[in-house]
Amino acid sequence: MKELVLQTKVNVCLYDELSAEDREVVDAARAATANSYAIYSGFNVGAAVRLANGVIVKGSNQENAAYPSGLCAERTTLFWANSQYPDQAVLTLAIAARTANGELDTPIPPCGACRQVILETEKRFGKAIRIILFGAKESYVVEDGIKALLPLSFDSAFLDE
Ligand code: THU
Repeated sequence: MKELVLQTKVNVCLYDELSAEDREVVDAARAATANSYAIYSGFNVGAAVRLANGVIVKGSNQENAAYPSGLCAERTTLFWANSQYPDQAVLTLAIAARTANGELDTPIPPCGACRQVILETEKRFGKAIRIILFGAKESYVVEDGIKALLPLSFDSAFLDE
């Protein structure tokens, strides 16, 4: 049997080590946590994207008493950005989170469903998205797009086989 090794490269850095451009997107995600509607989990997530036209769009998780009807910050943000600017590629996505104890120390990763939507957004615009997972102690920067976080992914190519 052959072994297939799938590697993931993530750059670990401090907030201060990010470029001013990246800090702008990260700060938008951090600010977006204030608009989160997370009365059930108390877990306030913010996301922000920089689009090809330079516009930064931010969003947050929106919960619901019927739990599955709520939506994560990443999908809220991507769906809103793509519906407002359907021809603008997403260049960078930043994610941040806070609880009653303050900002998370560790980088906040996107859930599986959000990874799938990030993948679709990359395919849609034919461009990998830089992903910045903010943590107060350290952040992760994924330079090469969602394939690092979603290996062996399912996409439209399989539908044509
Ligand atoms: N959540 C996000 O918004 N993004 C993530 O990447 C992880 C989880 C939300 C969903 C729910 O509102 C709350 O955080 C707790 O799971």
